[in-house]
Amino acid sequence: MRASITTITTTILFFLLYPAATVPNPPLSTTAESPSSPTTSTTLDPNQLRALQFLHIPTTQDPCTLSTCDNATPFRHLLSLRLTNCSSEHHLSTTTLSSLSTLTSLTFLGCHTPIFHFPSSLTTNLHSLTSINSLQHLTGVFLSHFHNLNHLYISGDPIKASGVHIITTNMKSLKTITLYNTHLTGYLPKDWNPKLTYIDFSKNKLKGTIPTSLTLLKNLQVLNFSSNNLNGVLPNSLGDLTSLKILSLSSNSISGPITASIFAIPGLAHLDLGSNRFEGVIPEFISEMKELKYLNLENNKFHGVLPFNASFIKRLDVFKINGNYDLCYNLSMVSMDMHLGIAPCDKHGMPILPPPAANTPAWSSVENVGGGGDGESGDNDDDVEKKSQVHVYRGPNKVVLGVAIALSAMVFIIIFLVLLFVC
Ligand SMILES: *[C@@H]1O[C@H](CO)[C@@H](O)[C@H](O)[C@H]1NC(C)=O
Ligand SMILES: *[C@@H]1O[C@H](CO)[C@@H](O)[C@H](O)[C@H]1NC(C)=O
Ligand SMILES: *[C@@H]1O[C@H](CO)[C@@H](O)[C@H](O)[C@H]1NC(C)=O
Ligand SMILES: *[C@@H]1O[C@H](CO)[C@@H](O)[C@H](O)[C@H]1NC(C)=O
Repeated sequence: MRASITTITTTILFFLLYPAATVPNPPLSTTAESPSSPTTSTTLDPNQLRALQFLHIPTTQDPCTLSTCDNATPFRHLLSLRLTNCSSEHHLSTTTLSSLSTLTSLTFLGCHTPIFHFPSSLTTNLHSLTSINSLQHLTGVFLSHFHNLNHLYISGDPIKASGVHIITTNMKSLKTITLYNTHLTGYLPKDWNPKLTYIDFSKNKLKGTIPTSLTLLKNLQVLNFSSNNLNGVLPNSLGDLTSLKILSLSSNSISGPITASIFAIPGLAHLDLGSNRFEGVIPEFISEMKELKYLNLENNKFHGVLPFNASFIKRLDVFKINGNYDLCYNLSMVSMDMHLGIAPCDKHGMPILPPPAANTPAWSSVENVGGGGDGESGDNDDDVEKKSQVHVYRGPNKVVLGVAIALSAMVFIIIFLVLLFVC
């Protein structure tokens, strides 16, 4: 997509054929194609033509061949505009934007500019607003004025607001919202627009629990709250999100069990609960979720026996389970060479404990551990236990030893050099 961007123009500014946010994530992936009505020579509104020139956009080529325009007569009007790499010297101002108030889609990309007063005709018309590393000093109140938005996408621009609801309350048509890496604080909203299909609030400082009201969003397909400070437990009604395909809650402080209701989400393909405080046993029904391709449960406090067999794990594109210290896997269901990062179970279903530190040289490699998925559960438990102890704790100690050797070598060299210098 970068390639197609640069072929269009070397200037700081160019147009989109389609409103950016018809593709919710990322809007950048929109590609240019030839427009539908190329025959007429430019009849763009002279005021808009002047505004483009004021913005240093070359207008030798009909702007409507590169952007979306309406078909009004005698003059056509711009519907979408994408501003790239602009700075304050490019006269981004209320006056310029006033004559562009026919726009329904506006994108700022790498335009480091403080927010300014948007003409109300423009805030009313816009259906799609995107700012990526652009608008500075954003506030919730400023964004709340764009009350007809279907798509809002802010990435990398800090937003000052005491909660997300300040931004969204008046946006009655909102379908997709991304507020990524915007330093947002406060709690999640209690009221959500039922039309929402896509919510990404990842990498902020949002706190509190996931409100039950969220589970009323029958159309929601993507929910990403990862990298916030959320806590509490999952709502029991999470399974009411029947359109959900992607659920990412990673890197929060959410606790409690995985609610059984998620079994009712037929199309769930991506479940990321990594790096939280989830506990309890991992429910067996997860292995019966037919669409699941991505499963991350790492760095939690799950315990008991992992209820998955090797064929289920291999069916997934991504499976992460390490960092659950009270969890173990059944050696007759999963072979050791799958390197799950958790200990195998002993015959009582408890993780095999690490050997006392001094006993075995932990970094010694073990050949041909694990292997077949069957027949090893019965009589040679001791043998299996020994092998797995060595295997499981081989990694970390190797690293520690390597670091120790490297450090002492460095200290040695430094002392040697100092001595050499002194002599
Ligand atoms: C905008 O700036 C970035 C980084 O400076 C550059 O890679 C990109 O090609 C620029 N885009 C345009 C359209 O000039
Ligand atoms: C969710 O957000 C995180 C952090 O921004 C990102 O790394 C991850 O790719 C997102 N997940 C999905 C499925 O979009
Ligand atoms: C593995 O688990 C899945 C799901 O529980 C099950 O359908 C399948 O029969 C199991 N495969 C083997 C080889 O046990
Ligand atoms: C491991 O799986 C086997 C076969 O399914 C079963 O008989 C055994 O009880 C399991 N062991 C544990 C510790 O769950």
